[in-house]
Amino acid sequence: MPYLPEHDEVPNPLSAGLRAATTPEPCAVVVFGASGDLAHRKLMPAFYNLALGGHLPGAFGVVGVAITDFDDNKFRAEMREAVGKFSRIKPVQEEVWQDFADGMRYVNGGFDDPATFQKLKAKLEELDHTRATRGNRLFYCATPPSTFAMILKGLKDAGLIYPPNHPCYSRIVVEKPFGHDLASARALNKMVLEVLDEKQVFRIDHYLGKETVQNLMVLRFANSIWEPLWNNKYVDHVEITAGEELGIEARGKYYEEAGILRDMIQNHVLQLVTLTAMEPPVAFDADAVRDEKLKVLRAIRPIIGPDEVAQSVVVGQYTAGSIFGADVAGYRQEANVAADSRTPTYVALKLLINNWRWDGVPFYVRSGKRLPKRATEIAVHFKPLPHSLFGAGATQPNVLVVRVQPEEGIALRFSAKVPGERYRPRTVSMDFRYGTAFGSASPEAYERLLLDAMRGDQTLFTRKDEVEAAWKLVDQILRVIESPEAPRLCEYEAGSWGPSEADQLLSLDGRAWRRL
Ligand code: BG6
Repeated sequence: MPYLPEHDEVPNPLSAGLRAATTPEPCAVVVFGASGDLAHRKLMPAFYNLALGGHLPGAFGVVGVAITDFDDNKFRAEMREAVGKFSRIKPVQEEVWQDFADGMRYVNGGFDDPATFQKLKAKLEELDHTRATRGNRLFYCATPPSTFAMILKGLKDAGLIYPPNHPCYSRIVVEKPFGHDLASARALNKMVLEVLDEKQVFRIDHYLGKETVQNLMVLRFANSIWEPLWNNKYVDHVEITAGEELGIEARGKYYEEAGILRDMIQNHVLQLVTLTAMEPPVAFDADAVRDEKLKVLRAIRPIIGPDEVAQSVVVGQYTAGSIFGADVAGYRQEANVAADSRTPTYVALKLLINNWRWDGVPFYVRSGKRLPKRATEIAVHFKPLPHSLFGAGATQPNVLVVRVQPEEGIALRFSAKVPGERYRPRTVSMDFRYGTAFGSASPEAYERLLLDAMRGDQTLFTRKDEVEAAWKLVDQILRVIESPEAPRLCEYEAGSWGPSEADQLLSLDGRAWRRL
């Protein structure tokens, strides 16, 4: 009989044993900004898919809060349409939707109006009675950061926040961007922690909800073969790419203030760096994992001042070009972007991690909008052979590539003998693909993260000190690139892999970016 992997019987260390993969306790989720893009595209489809998969508690409700003039029924109809459009599983199953929609309520009002929070309180109490949600509340701020203070004050004044030791829970999920720089992130942390305990705060970074990102921990800590090699003795350099063919869509106003360093590096890309570089945690729990990630952020050599920035940072901005054969505008021609904007849409960085494991191993990271395609991957390049038996240049160094998205999987590049009478090595690849190995589609990042927030598991959420440490690194770079001593903002054509200066960043070290 052929060997068939019995996936269902293999305990997933992220969900079994080490972590209670239980159905969350009954609760009501409150979505501030419920008429916005995030609620339509991500949150409601995620809740629906959780309901479909039987992951939500039987007693569950969602209250939307926004200034849009909806009532309960209009909110349900609007969200039904959004779920029909954006759910990863289609068509929508009416029976499941109906049951889910019965628990939906809507509160119309401004976040600065105490009456909004009184109405919210009444709706939550009604849900406690009709849906048995038992007083547990998860508040989700799917709103711009400028509203956080108002929302927190409104919740506190209305008595909707319980102390951390209360038998019912109140937790808050805060969307990115978490601050604009180190000072504002600290101020935001201070404000949030005046009202809530750290254990009640869930700062979301949706990259941590991606299966392939979580799998980095399984790859590293559930296999014995990598650990002996995962250090400066065997690794030559690490390359991390987070590229998108998308431009800034309709987000010109936001992007002008953010730019690629705030939008992608401070959060998603640094999370990939920490998970790749961290030491094994002492346990698989929220604080142990986050302690190790924090140590990596603290060990990254700061890039301070114009000279260091010039040596380790390349910033770029896309000009008009073509993607998949279609002409696209340059960044400065996008709506709500200044004609002389200096906002970077591309960055390449050389990071050095000053610790025993990684000393001398550069981590080259790059991220950009309007690159030729969507591709996020981590490539661990191993050192070349000390001596080749097959002729100079006959073999390429081994590379382990973790494809975060798309075509999620892991590939190991190694040399094999080309069949024939001679010893001719050629590089081949051993490839693991999620799609074929597991045969089922991965859940959306938001599904996993919402479920964890309801369960009270903070492992995949960023802690106060972690967010601040990431900001500290990025802030030091921003200070230079947003000053009169800024390095040149290099142009790159939309549809290319970024400015040639980014290639030089590696070629000066005798290396090159992988061709994706
Ligand atoms: C968001 C950024 O956080 O992540 C966007 O604001 C970016 O600019 C997006 O496009 C990328 O996410 P994903 O999951 O598509 O890689």
